[in-house]
Amino acid sequence: MAEISAIILAAGQGKRMKSSLPKVAHAVAGKPMLWHVARAAREAGITEIVFVLGQGREKVLGTAEEFGGKVAFQDRQLGTGDAARCGLSALSSRAKEVVVLCGDAPLISPRTIRALITTRRRRKAVASVLTGILPDPSGYGRVVRNADGTVARIVEERDGGPEIRKIREVNSGTYVFDRKFLRRNLPRLTDVNVQREFYLTDLVVQALQEGKIVVPVVAKNPDEVRGINSRKELAEATEVLRRAKIDALLDAGVTVVAPEWAYIEPEVSVGADSLIGPGVVLLGKTRIGKGVRIQTGCVVENCRVDDGAQLKPYSVLTDSHVRRGAIIGPFAHLRPEADIGEDARIGNFVEVKKSRIGKGSKANHLAYIGDAVVGRKANIGAGTITCNYDGLAKHKTVIGDGVFVGSDTQFIAPVTIGKGAIIGAGTTVTGDVPPYALALSRAEQVVKAGWVIRKMPELLRKSGLKVPSGKEKK
Ligand code: UD1
Ligand code: CA
Repeated sequence: MAEISAIILAAGQGKRMKSSLPKVAHAVAGKPMLWHVARAAREAGITEIVFVLGQGREKVLGTAEEFGGKVAFQDRQLGTGDAARCGLSALSSRAKEVVVLCGDAPLISPRTIRALITTRRRRKAVASVLTGILPDPSGYGRVVRNADGTVARIVEERDGGPEIRKIREVNSGTYVFDRKFLRRNLPRLTDVNVQREFYLTDLVVQALQEGKIVVPVVAKNPDEVRGINSRKELAEATEVLRRAKIDALLDAGVTVVAPEWAYIEPEVSVGADSLIGPGVVLLGKTRIGKGVRIQTGCVVENCRVDDGAQLKPYSVLTDSHVRRGAIIGPFAHLRPEADIGEDARIGNFVEVKKSRIGKGSKANHLAYIGDAVVGRKANIGAGTITCNYDGLAKHKTVIGDGVFVGSDTQFIAPVTIGKGAIIGAGTTVTGDVPPYALALSRAEQVVKAGWVIRKMPELLRKSGLKVPSGKEKK
């Protein structure tokens, strides 16, 4: 395929967003609007991308970098025509065709961009324009057609009369141009219109003056032409992508119990026969294997969850790995770099951070495991805490295979427990424990018989107990 360049117009501030962020930095389905447009361009096979950015450009430079794009700076927003001119001067490839995309239209698909490219070639037009038929076209530029179906003019709503407003075919703001035509004609645009802006759309008239044609391509899915100008439209675009993602997962053999009530971002993958319960949120680059069960209210971000694992309700997982058959939750918290081994069990109110838990090990209730390495088939009792932080630095706890940690143990890290050792309940472990040893630290128990009867009889009365007398007093 011949080399093709793209210019993404993204310098507008977007007043209607009422935001200090530039409009294209606002997230749709978890990624900046601009990211979606750049991804579509990349997937359509476009090699060179120029981003035209304006004020606040530092907020979206990351996106431009991610796609290896160049950045052109438009310091005053003089209109889409001026922005395209700005972008054109930054192109360095020798591509003969230039795709112009709007940074605020994130629902465009690679397939549609391809259709726009091939239609222009086939019809030997100087430009092709993506249009859409919308039930409510208000706010968009309208497409006026010639008798032969080619584009005669694009008129902004504000510049047109009632006849124009009646037209339901709108301009998406996405085009493919012959590069030479663009270079020749962009400098000829004027700003004689209501908004005193240089309109890219005026190129249509210039094409006709040169005796050339501009062909329209009507988007099959009108969502693709949606431009985002307000927070409401932002939320609607996210909803379109959310629903599309859920539908794709359903098609791929995933059970989504309540499709209206699960939020799954576009880059997430889920294997067949997995089940996603109501109110589940799957974010970022999360990869879920096959036959995984994710129950109500789980929030999973950038995690790997392998085949057959189970996330019980209300577990929160970030940047972690749950291996085959492990069971997490309910109410578990896996923080970055938790690595839960096969068939391991992390139960309620257990927090794991930057720790590896070996195959078949269990921490079933109320524990904090941080900066630790736990071997296989170890048992971590309720209330166990790795005291990993001394106020200045983090230290490591190493627990060998088959270690049994009694409830309410504190490990004052750094500390290493050899395999097969037992830690008695209530122990504060301050030094290493060799394999197969028992470690125990307990103050001797004191019992004072009858003390409550003598010193606090009111406590017994309050509890409805009879205060014993006589012999029982001892
Ligand atoms: C534009 C089109 C309109 C189309 C609509 C689709 C023109 C004159 N009008 O109108 O026909 O229906 O898009 O959404 O082209 N931008 C810059 N620099 C500028 C001005 C705009 O980079 O000086 C960028 C914006 O960031 C945005 C895109 O160009 O991504 C479109 O600009 P916007 O102001 O939203 O144009 P519309 O009025 O929506
Ligand atoms: Ca717009």
